[in-house]
Parts: sequence; C-alpha cells; structure tokens
Amino acid sequence: MESLPIRKARNLIRRTKIIWIATAAAIILVAAICVNSSQYASPPPKSPSMAPPAQHSKVFDGHEDCDIFSGDWIPNPEAPYYTNKTCWAIHDHQNCMKYGRPDSDFMRWRWKPNACNLPLFNPYQFLHIVRGKSLAFVGDSVGRNQMQSIICLLSRVEYPIDMSPPTTDKHWKYVNYNFTMSYFWSPFLVRSGVRDDVGPTNTGLFNLYLEEFDESWTNQIHGFDYLIINAGHWFNRNTVYYENRRVVGCRYCLLPNITDLPATYAYRRAFRTAFRALENFDGVTLVRTFAPAHFEGGEWNAGGDCVRRRPVGSNDTVLDGQTLDMYTAQLEEFRAAMGRGKRGMRAMDVTKMMLLRPDGHPSRYGHWAEEKVVLYNDCVHWCLPGPIDSGADILLHMLKMEARRG
Ligand SMILES: *[C@@H]1O[C@H](CO)[C@@H](O)[C@H](O)[C@H]1NC(C)=O
Ligand SMILES: *[C@@H]1O[C@H](CO)[C@@H](O)[C@H](O)[C@H]1NC(C)=O
Ligand SMILES: *[C@@H]1O[C@H](CO)[C@@H](O)[C@H](O)[C@H]1NC(C)=O
Ligand SMILES: *[C@@H]1O[C@H](CO)[C@@H](O)[C@H](O)[C@H]1NC(C)=O
Repeated sequence: MESLPIRKARNLIRRTKIIWIATAAAIILVAAICVNSSQYASPPPKSPSMAPPAQHSKVFDGHEDCDIFSGDWIPNPEAPYYTNKTCWAIHDHQNCMKYGRPDSDFMRWRWKPNACNLPLFNPYQFLHIVRGKSLAFVGDSVGRNQMQSIICLLSRVEYPIDMSPPTTDKHWKYVNYNFTMSYFWSPFLVRSGVRDDVGPTNTGLFNLYLEEFDESWTNQIHGFDYLIINAGHWFNRNTVYYENRRVVGCRYCLLPNITDLPATYAYRRAFRTAFRALENFDGVTLVRTFAPAHFEGGEWNAGGDCVRRRPVGSNDTVLDGQTLDMYTAQLEEFRAAMGRGKRGMRAMDVTKMMLLRPDGHPSRYGHWAEEKVVLYNDCVHWCLPGPIDSGADILLHMLKMEARRG
C-alpha cells in the first residue's frame, strides 16, 4: 500500500529527486539532533521498572515459557511512552495526532497473555541484550512501522545515528551500545518488477518471480544477529506470477489467458523462497505473522474504513476469511522450513493480537484531507504511539528467550 514503488516505476527522475530530498532531510535531522543533543542527553524520569538492569540475571523473569501470543488487551493508563513531540522517527502517515485524530485512548492498552504477565518494554534491558549486535527488518512498511515504534521507545535512552544509503533501506546506529538496526524494503520478499500497465485498479501491476531471491536483502543480511521478516498486504495488489521464468497465473490482473490465483498462492511461495534464502543464515530469524487489516464497509480501494475506538475481546472475534488463509499459509511454510532442519527460526505470532486492534489504525488521520494518497483510509499500518508499540514487549521477550538458549 506504500506508494514508493509506484513512483519508482512511473518516474525515475522524480524518484531521484525524492531520494535527494530524503537525504537532505536526514542530514538536517542529524544536524538537529547534534544541536539539540542536550535535550536527549538525560532521559526523562522513569518508573522503577524502567531502571537499567543491574546484572544479566535480571534479564530473566520466570515467565519465559508462557504462550505470550494468546491473550487480551487490558487498559494501561501509563502509556504512551513517547509522543510526536519527543520522537522524530514517526513516519508522517502514521503520525495520527498531527492529522487531527480526536481520540487517544487507543494508545492506552497493553497486551496481557492469558497465562502470564508480559513485562512492558524496558529500553535499557533491550539495549543491554543487543549490545554489540545487529538486527534487521526485512519486508514491507508494516515492518518499518514496528522499527519506528522501537526507535521511539528506545529514545528514552538513546537516539540512533542515521547511516542509511540513498535508497529505501535504512541503517541506524546506536553508538553507545554499538547496536545496529536496519530495514530492507522488500514487500514481496522475492524478486519483483513493475509492468508498464497500471493494472485494473490503477495502482500498478507487478511481476513476481516466486522462486527467485530478492537479492536486495538476501545479499545483505550476512552477519546480522537477528532478522525480523514480514510481508502481507502487497500480495493483494495486481500481480503476475512467474515460476521457472514462465507465467503461471496472476492475482487480479485481467490479462488475457492468465489464470487468476489467490494471494495465498504467491504468499506461500514467497515465504518458501525467503526461507530457502535463509538456509545458511546464522542469526536468529523471527517470522512476524500476518498483521490483519481492518477495513469495514468496503475494500481498501472502495471506501472501506476503520472507525472503531476500542480493542475487541479475544472471545468476540475469530480469525477468518483471507486473514486466516494468509496466516495459515505462512505458518505452514514456517513449519515446513523448520521440518527441513532450519535452525534459529521462531514465529513472532502477532496475528491474533493485532486482529483485536481495529481501533489502532490511522484511518483518515494519516494525511491531510485534501492530500492524494494511495491508501486513503489506512486500516493497515498502525498509529504511533499505538498498538504496535506492544510488539516491542513481544520482541524483548523473544530476545530474552534467545539469550537463555544461549
Ligand atoms: C503532534 O501532534 C499535535 C497534535 O497533538 C500536532 O498539533 C502537531 O503538529 C504534531 N507535531 C508533529 C511534530 O508532528
Ligand atoms: C561493535 O559490534 C561489532 C559487531 O556488530 C563488532 O564487530 C565490533 O568489534 C564492535 N565494536 C566495538 C567498539 O565494540
Ligand atoms: C488465448 O488462448 C487462446 C486458446 O489457446 C488463443 O487462441 C488466443 O490467441 C490466446 N490469446 C492471447 C491474447 O494470447
Ligand atoms: C473467554 O472465554 C473463556 C472461556 O469461556 C473464559 O475463560 C475467558 O475468561 C473469556 N475471556 C474474556 C476476556 O472474556
């Protein structure tokens, strides 16, 4: 749903300009941080639970074996832990308060697993665990959404330095912890291209080479300690599927003689290929499961919107329809890769957790009303601050588990 690849396809010259503007903006940002560094030098007062851990043993809390992915959202009046004034890393389209979202209760919930308490994200503990290490997000803008949430949550301790290349990839360095966080943009995970045609919904028509690595990330991940891989919503776009260099079908392309196939056809194969690319990857791979969208009253391009203002109870909804199909396909490929002996791979199984948060999306508060954007009512990404901040609680828990596995 990100407009960038379409821009990429439509106007290379403009893209180059955008990159330059982005680079200039990044330089100005870094400069601003240097000038304002005193503002960040001493983090604001913290509650006792946020104190730096005294020793490594504090990393363990006795709840490591709990199923953290089944639970409900409970009120957390303490949240949020940052605002759009204290954190500059919020992507503009997820800065819901800037665009006039009237309510803020959606920021004040935390995830409560049924069987235990999941500790809130402690930025000191997180940085303690990842000291000297590197983490990369690979996938689409929902992964980037989570990365920016983490930058904001860590901002109580430290802001990273932007060492990004002039592309859609990002590299952030936490100097005091020698921790690197990167983001590789690959919404389909496999090699893809853009066709000349804009496709039946006028949002671009893509070629997916389902068995071919997207080398823009597979060639760069060597040496990373952790990888968080995700994909999903781009598979609903108009795409033509290739295998063995031949067209095998498409997803709503309306081209003559090409069979229409479901999005899960490509989604499943894309993960299979991505996992094959990770066969020799030494680090830990966290596979972030499909994050459901919450369009109601229509599809994303046909007036659907997300206007709820509260989370839904786990007993009041079920995973169904395409969300269930995508989730199932992804988990089956995950298990198949594990079955083939892939080590160091875990499911970050957030689908059900995020299904319960129809209230956390930007909806129409991701842009000015008159602005022309691809995703007019955004019910895919998450407002920051917002529910995806709880993904950091999950991530920290999973990193603790890895630390314990040693
Ligand atoms: C932050 O949100 C407020 C509304 O709460 C808005 O007025 C302001 O422009 C936003 N600031 C930034 C830097 O996005
Ligand atoms: C920083 O971490 C990298 C590994 O990510 C390591 O190779 C390097 O030696 C570390 N540098 C310092 C100053 O500790
Ligand atoms: C579609 O397939 C039919 C039957 O094989 C063939 O006659 C026709 O030329 C094809 N059309 C295109 C546009 O390839
Ligand atoms: C959901 O249903 C189960 C079984 O009926 C019950 O034990 C649990 O308390 C319910 N959870 C909520 C949040 O209502």
